[in-house]
Amino acid sequence: MKKYILLVVLVFVLALSGCDEKEDVLVVLTSSGYEPYEMVDTNGELTGFDIELMEALAEEVGVVIEWKDVNFDGIIASLQSGSYEVAIAGISPTAARDEVIDFSSVYYNSESGLLNNLVFETTAGYESLSDFEGKIIGAQLGTIQADILDEYSSVYGYTVELRAQNSQLVEEVKIGTIDAVLLENLVADSILELNSTFSKVVVEESTDSIYGNAIAFSEDSEYVALFNEALKTLEENDTLQSLIDKWFN
Ligand code: ARG
Repeated sequence: MKKYILLVVLVFVLALSGCDEKEDVLVVLTSSGYEPYEMVDTNGELTGFDIELMEALAEEVGVVIEWKDVNFDGIIASLQSGSYEVAIAGISPTAARDEVIDFSSVYYNSESGLLNNLVFETTAGYESLSDFEGKIIGAQLGTIQADILDEYSSVYGYTVELRAQNSQLVEEVKIGTIDAVLLENLVADSILELNSTFSKVVVEESTDSIYGNAIAFSEDSEYVALFNEALKTLEENDTLQSLIDKWFN
């Protein structure tokens, strides 16, 4: 009898540990090369505000994350088609995107952080969009910055060049094939820090396109509610604020 009970206990313990191994693994899309939100460190590891925030949220939700680093311009379509369920990449929850995917509540919003800026070689001396007639302005493919450039190109008479990565755009500004890049303020500041010859000027025309940043999900994903709940917890226990202080100040 004793042996029998032991066996039952053993089977039970094995079954439990088996459950443990089947812990949910959630593939999360991101797009590095977007300091300070997401970048690859010298060890080849993803790091940045979004990465740490997502890892803290996942712990709250009780899922293990597997990161997938992709080009930004594929993210919305991948969620829309249902190939992937979650993405964090400094994504602006625009009305147009909201029609095809879902968003968490906004996790970061700040006019000074999110205003769009043109970044260029200081010697060029640009002061506003009006100085760009006949010039070339670049932006990252699939971003709201690309949309903003398209919207005003005929008004100001510049040409738009889009690239998959901001690093390509920065290189082209250095060699002069592109005159300026349009970037969100926080990202512009990171690039200015690394490139002492660059300056920036704010683009007032784009102030109505400030949405904050949110996590993106495939439509009707069960994770929306779970991550919103976790976001609330991290807001209440100040984790969110300390991440903002760490990465954005
Ligand atoms: N906030 C902008 C957008 O949603 C740009 C985001 C770019 N993100 C990135 N990881 N490259 O369109």
